[in-house]
Amino acid sequence: MTRTLTIRRPDDWHLHLRDGAMLDGVAPESARHFARAIVMPNLVPPVLTGRDAAAYRDRILAALPEGAGFTPLMTLYLTETTDPADVTAAHAAGLIHAVKLYPAGATTNSASGVRDFDRVRPVLEAMAEAGIPLCVHGEVTEPDVDIFDREAVFIDRVLDPLRRATPGLRVVMEHITTAQGVNYVKAGGNGLGATITVHHLVINRNHILAGGIRPHYYCLPVAKREEHRLALRAAATSGEARFFLGTDSAPHADPLKESACGCAGCFTAPNAMSILAHVFEEEAALDRLEAFTSLNGPAFYGLPPNAATLTLTRGDPVAYPYRIETGAGPVTLFDPGFPLHWRAA
Ligand code: NCD
Ligand code: ZN
Repeated sequence: MTRTLTIRRPDDWHLHLRDGAMLDGVAPESARHFARAIVMPNLVPPVLTGRDAAAYRDRILAALPEGAGFTPLMTLYLTETTDPADVTAAHAAGLIHAVKLYPAGATTNSASGVRDFDRVRPVLEAMAEAGIPLCVHGEVTEPDVDIFDREAVFIDRVLDPLRRATPGLRVVMEHITTAQGVNYVKAGGNGLGATITVHHLVINRNHILAGGIRPHYYCLPVAKREEHRLALRAAATSGEARFFLGTDSAPHADPLKESACGCAGCFTAPNAMSILAHVFEEEAALDRLEAFTSLNGPAFYGLPPNAATLTLTRGDPVAYPYRIETGAGPVTLFDPGFPLHWRAA
């Protein structure tokens, strides 16, 4: 049995680093194992312009430990008033690597997101022209659509029409959670990719709701039935180029999650690589871990894979803290519910 595994250093193609004291607390956790991350722009206020992105990038760099060797890849938050020229200039300058589409009201800090998709058409056309990827939070927000159906309905009602109307637009379906998402991405042509989180490979909706409500397993899109978790595991471990890791590590201080109206988000940055090695080993796919964490993402984004490596070693169970303390309060780690034997050096 393999006892050590050395892979190209992984990247995280969907990460929430927050700002201020929370940023200071969580940035080192991602920098420990990951070389780069696509950083989500859903701050309050959101990262709207190239100028905002440059300032946020500098705050991230200031929050990293000395010699961290971590590069934040910035994104802009798409609104109905985003200026196409600002987007293409920020991309041409190497500052931003993607634009994020949040349907208004879909998730944490998405109130400034898009309501009328016709109003963002000029930006999407400029992005298609310049080859700038659109990262999509793929859930409809209509109150009459069941929350467990919101991803599948989004594909039919929004994503597919949007892609047909904007030929050449590169799209990443972020944090897919359903077999419908997997199948759509597989059938979708070259300009379509998808990120898959760590937690959606581990939990289904029972973990959130059976035997008591577990706020630390609540995230958006919410985990679905077991058959969907299995479809995600098959996709992630397939080695197929269009599936890559985006942890969606989304820290919230514990009091905001353990509440009558708890925030959505799982915090997986510290133990993501240990959990992934466990999952890939269970699926007899350790030889495809590197494709998922370190090769497929850079290829989609047109970047070289990292030259540095990460070595994972299998041994006695690794002890992760139950929570980390940050200046913004304690943040509980995602608990996979099984002992982790893979240690990332
Ligand atoms: C994210 C957050 O907290 O910012 N939450 C989550 O459950 N994933 C937002 C998001 O990516 O949907
Ligand atoms: Zn997210």
